[in-house]
Amino acid sequence: MHLLIPAAGSGKRMGANRNKLLLQVRSKPLIAWTLLAAEAASSISWIGIVSQSADWDDFKSIIADLNLKKTIALIPGGSTRQESVYNGLQALPLNAEQVLIHDGARCLVTPNLFDACSEAILHCPGLIAAVPVKDTIKVVDDNGIITSTPDRKQLWAAQTPQGFDVNLLKQCHTQGVRQGWEVTDDAALFEKCGMEVRIVPGEETNLKITTPQDLAIAEFILSHRY
Ligand code: CTP
Ligand code: MG
Repeated sequence: MHLLIPAAGSGKRMGANRNKLLLQVRSKPLIAWTLLAAEAASSISWIGIVSQSADWDDFKSIIADLNLKKTIALIPGGSTRQESVYNGLQALPLNAEQVLIHDGARCLVTPNLFDACSEAILHCPGLIAAVPVKDTIKVVDDNGIITSTPDRKQLWAAQTPQGFDVNLLKQCHTQGVRQGWEVTDDAALFEKCGMEVRIVPGEETNLKITTPQDLAIAEFILSHRY
């Protein structure tokens, strides 16, 4: 399986003045934990890291330190996550029929979840890891007034990995550029094109590290794993 890792963000909400994926968690850069999980997933053979060229020296030295056995490609990042994934899709080897996309910022993913998604994507055109929402979710208008309370049974929190048929996802991205759609995950593009996206059970610990408090939670979870 081919894996694309969007890693070209700037981590504004982390407030660290640099790509949050280079911050240390348990004495390793955050992205190193993501890469170690991908390396340990037996289904994955090729890893494309989409990142800003300013970070390439850092990424190269992280990759060298980890002594990874899998084929790694560095791919230029875009100005949005959507653009970064688009660049990643263009850089896939020609023989790639399916692809998993996994945010570099979800560094607590397990090899098992990668392998489960790799297996499942052989049997459907699109999928995402997701977990049932635990909170009651409110839809709120611009004045801060609740307009509705969706039935929680139908609500799932989207995670990555997300998996797709490569040709279909490329078509959806091209359509997205043409129509000016701005989305925060690839499943949304697939959905907008009327294509079916399946849910694969995600992991409660598979957090997206976004704010400083998430770093502390990641430290805690990793300290119980290794
Ligand atoms: N990402 C990317 N290219 C971008 C923006 C984001 O590849 N132009 C990646 C990030 O590196 C991250 C993933 O997409 O692994 C999810 O994005 P997010 O958590 O929002 O990270 P940042 O955009 O870096 O953070 P922020 O939104 O707080 O600036
Ligand atoms: Mg972002």
